[in-house]
Amino acid sequence: MHERKVLRVLTGQPSSDGDGVRLLRVFSPDAGLDPFLLLDEFGSDEAADYIGGFPSHPHRGFETVTYMLEGRMRHGDHLGNSGLLVSGGVQWMTAGRGIIHSEMPEQVEGRMRGFQLWLNLPAAEKMKPASYRDIEPAELPLARWSGAAAKVIAGRVEHDGGVTEGAVRGVSTDPLYLDIAVPANGELIVPVSGDRTALVYLYEGGARIAGERIERGQLAVLGEGEAVSIAAGETEARLLLLAATPLREPVVHYGPFVMNSVAEIVQALADFRAGRLAG
Ligand code: CO
Repeated sequence: MHERKVLRVLTGQPSSDGDGVRLLRVFSPDAGLDPFLLLDEFGSDEAADYIGGFPSHPHRGFETVTYMLEGRMRHGDHLGNSGLLVSGGVQWMTAGRGIIHSEMPEQVEGRMRGFQLWLNLPAAEKMKPASYRDIEPAELPLARWSGAAAKVIAGRVEHDGGVTEGAVRGVSTDPLYLDIAVPANGELIVPVSGDRTALVYLYEGGARIAGERIERGQLAVLGEGEAVSIAAGETEARLLLLAATPLREPVVHYGPFVMNSVAEIVQALADFRAGRLAG
């Protein structure tokens, strides 16, 4: 099997967003990781780092995937939809034409930890109606290797003794989203075939990706191939593996709007100001 190599390594940058939520911005749209646009890791025991949450804000033209490792987040939108995201749960939101929502912690103390990923939509789907998929922790299937295990949030993965289909299917870019735990000194090979952008983000421990050492808070951008090898160091490694088919369309982003042209961004701003973002 032709193994993917590490093309480059990105290091997450401390940042803040929403109402003062402290986070690690692993990458943003300028990184050119088509169709992935952005990855944030948030995690703190200090309420002051997260309590402000993400008050009412719009999105258009892409999807947001929020994965909570610990903590509780209340989601509400301008259409009256509301939901509670709990530890181990996932919210896959397709903003499409537009959504105006808030994402607020439903806790005043304790640990809040998780990720938000932005995934682009093809031009033909950017103006489709908004929709949600809320996935409970128990709905995430587990894929097992002799040396590791992964929660399969999206996509289909071959592993020792089988194939596991993730909780989310039917997304145009065919995303694979795994949360992998590798015990100390364990290793595994994950098949990631085809012409897909593939990324591995290390959020706990130390690891070698395709033989290259990366540290906590770093993202390995992988080259072409059919599989990626992952090896943990002296402690357990926890990683996100992301892969998806690139769109190869122009990307113009402005804050929470990601479209294909400047004219479409201008339209999104005008629609938002006129109160017709969602039609
Ligand atoms: Co949002």
